Amino acid sequence: MDKQADVIIVGSGLAALQLAHHLHSSYHVIILTKTMIRQSNSYIAQGGIAAVIDKEDSIHSHVEDTLKAGRYHHFTEEVGRLASEGAGAVKELIASGFSIDREADGQPSLGLEGAHSARRIIHSGGDATGRYTVEHLLERLPVNIDIIEGEMAYECILSKDRSTCLGVKTKNKDGMIRRYWAPHIVLAAGGAGAIYPFTSNQPTLTGDGIAMAFRAGAEITDMEFVQFHPTLLFIDGATKGLISEAVRGAGGRLVDENGIRIMDKIHPLKDLAPRHITAYEIYQTRANGKSVFLDIRSIPHFEEKFPTVTALCERNHVPISKGLIPVAPGSHFLMGGISTDSNGCTTVHGLYAIGETAHSGVHGANRLASNSLLEGLVYGRRLADFINSQVAADKKREETFGYKEQMKNRLAAELSREDLQTRTMKAAGIIRTQENLASHISYLEDKGFQKWINSGLDELNIENIEKVYMHINSYLISLAALLREESRGAHIRTDFRTEERNWYGKRIVQTIAGIKIRGGQHERDQIRIHA
Ligand code: SIN
Repeated sequence: MDKQADVIIVGSGLAALQLAHHLHSSYHVIILTKTMIRQSNSYIAQGGIAAVIDKEDSIHSHVEDTLKAGRYHHFTEEVGRLASEGAGAVKELIASGFSIDREADGQPSLGLEGAHSARRIIHSGGDATGRYTVEHLLERLPVNIDIIEGEMAYECILSKDRSTCLGVKTKNKDGMIRRYWAPHIVLAAGGAGAIYPFTSNQPTLTGDGIAMAFRAGAEITDMEFVQFHPTLLFIDGATKGLISEAVRGAGGRLVDENGIRIMDKIHPLKDLAPRHITAYEIYQTRANGKSVFLDIRSIPHFEEKFPTVTALCERNHVPISKGLIPVAPGSHFLMGGISTDSNGCTTVHGLYAIGETAHSGVHGANRLASNSLLEGLVYGRRLADFINSQVAADKKREETFGYKEQMKNRLAAELSREDLQTRTMKAAGIIRTQENLASHISYLEDKGFQKWINSGLDELNIENIEKVYMHINSYLISLAALLREESRGAHIRTDFRTEERNWYGKRIVQTIAGIKIRGGQHERDQIRIHA
């Protein structure tokens, strides 16, 4: 059965809810989530929201910290908007009754995280800020918003000439297909952390929004920039969840198994160095056969300050009283994504992207800690303002693009999720080389890349669609990582160890038609054809 709305939002994290809140109350809005409304990365976010609310702090300094951490690979104007509109959005949230953590004298309790030059991280419920923020917005969700759980949006419905997105198709676990139509389709489906074996993300974060937009013909930018969080709880060869950077902000120190501090000689900010530097150092120490621990013995009242981390450790039988938490890095955040303008418009008419799914240009080559919930607040609001200002055009549903062939369940079933995760980590993980990337790309092409982008997915079950999407994301990341012959931010090539002047300002843009290097002094023409 088909459904019609004014706005369809795919995803249920902070960006999605902020957008829903600010859309005009006369719009019928549908939020689609493939799992449950609370199963988002935002919900489990332990970090806070970076915002300039202290008189001693400044927008200029927040912008500078963001640019420095991301190695000056940003859309600088967007970073200015993020910092200044972000401060306003946080104040607005507080004015709506959102309760933030405060000092005994009532002043906001402001935390410090890696690469921030000032205390500017607000928290709510300590390290449960994501949950508190999402719950705050859910409690106040306007009546014009319908939430549909357990349906995975898997394909954009396009006009016959493929220029316009008219709706999305969804599938539930029983294989039932539904069509949702709206003049505005928003992808807010998070990143692709689950394509790696170690991740802080929900296992459902399989890059769905990015793969859908890519298949619909939208531009995808700078997928090579994947942030690895330095500290995930590491037990018996597997990661079990995030140990917030705020723990290091409160005095936690990284030590090897002999108790030697590993960051002291590496960076002036030591344990609070930018994430790519800390993650790399932990990775190398572990590769040299030594375990790494977060020493929390100097942090008073740890359990009170970090209830989520404490519960995670207890669940995994790591005693907080011993003061040493075993850690390893894992995929955390994708700086690249669907190319958008300042409002969240993609290159396909009627299709929008916000939050981690989008490449808005605010994170550069490496995101500054606690700027992502902020991005959700700012760009959710910006897109709402944009959509509220549009007059919906009449669209003809019958003239839709159709795939000539349908991909078969049998073909997708041959893809292995675990195998892909291991291979993606080896080729496009913390350390990359030309040789590993090229061989991974050949492997993905042999597995059927052309089919994944050119066939319809109606015949596939959800599990197989997710695998196809994971493979597409792995391909986009690996190809961009192969082309960028330098190291910048989170993209570390051992065969090109430094930042290269001739790569400064250049973006790698992919569509189903091919791949371009854009920006810098000269824009090169298409240099490789996908389809
Ligand atoms: C953390 O708490 O360490 C994560 C925060 C973030 O990624 O912004």
